[in-house]
Amino acid sequence: MKIDYNDLVFKEKIKQAGSSHVYSGEYKGQEVAIKLFDIIHPHSSLHRLYGVFNICLIEYDNLLKVREKCTEMNYALQEPIGVTRNPQGIDILISKLVKDDNGSLSNELKDAKNTIDKNFISQLQNILYSLAEKKIYHMHLEDQRNILVHVNSGIHPVIIDFQSMNETYYPWLKITKHFGMDSARKRYFRRINRMLKSLEENLN
Ligand SMILES: Nc1ncnc2c1ncn2[C@@H]1O[C@H](COP(=O)(O)OP(=O)(O)O)[C@@H](O)[C@H]1O
Ligand SMILES: [Mg+2]
Repeated sequence: MKIDYNDLVFKEKIKQAGSSHVYSGEYKGQEVAIKLFDIIHPHSSLHRLYGVFNICLIEYDNLLKVREKCTEMNYALQEPIGVTRNPQGIDILISKLVKDDNGSLSNELKDAKNTIDKNFISQLQNILYSLAEKKIYHMHLEDQRNILVHVNSGIHPVIIDFQSMNETYYPWLKITKHFGMDSARKRYFRRINRMLKSLEENLN
């Protein structure tokens, strides 16, 4: 959905990441995360080579697609609200702000490793394996900033930042898949299994 930029209320900057600035804010009374794609991505010339021009729209479309394909997992997936552009021409993605029951922003897994338990890891594994069953491969989960630890009555993961899904950014994987050497699926499982294992080791 295209959002009117003037309907956005910016509150505070919550993160500066590799390719974006993220603010908390409000949209028509709802608390939102506002992601500004105002940093030139270190891979942007590679992206253009592969025909990736608007990463904001790609991320938005990916989110819509994942949520539609995996409705039973929507509770664990970032919820998109819409896209817009500011007067300077910067693309903006708006999604529902992920917050804990006590009102604070949900932590990134990277900073919450000491609060998670075995149950959290097995929930995460179930979610990541179920997404793969639907042929959804989020390729940047080793970056544990893309998994939020949502605390309500229990704790559960929320997966965000679906910019790089399946072969977006890695189009050569279609060719290597053809020759049986590698594929988005194989690479995905290599990465998430490595990540899950390191989380488990950290528990001990
Ligand atoms: N909907 C959201 N709710 C809460 N925090 C968010 C939300 N979206 C992004 N963030 C925070 O901002 C950080 C950067 O956002 P992300 O979409 O991962 O940007 P990038 O593509 O630049 O990595 C995330 O790691 C997370 O901490
Ligand atoms: Mg990220």
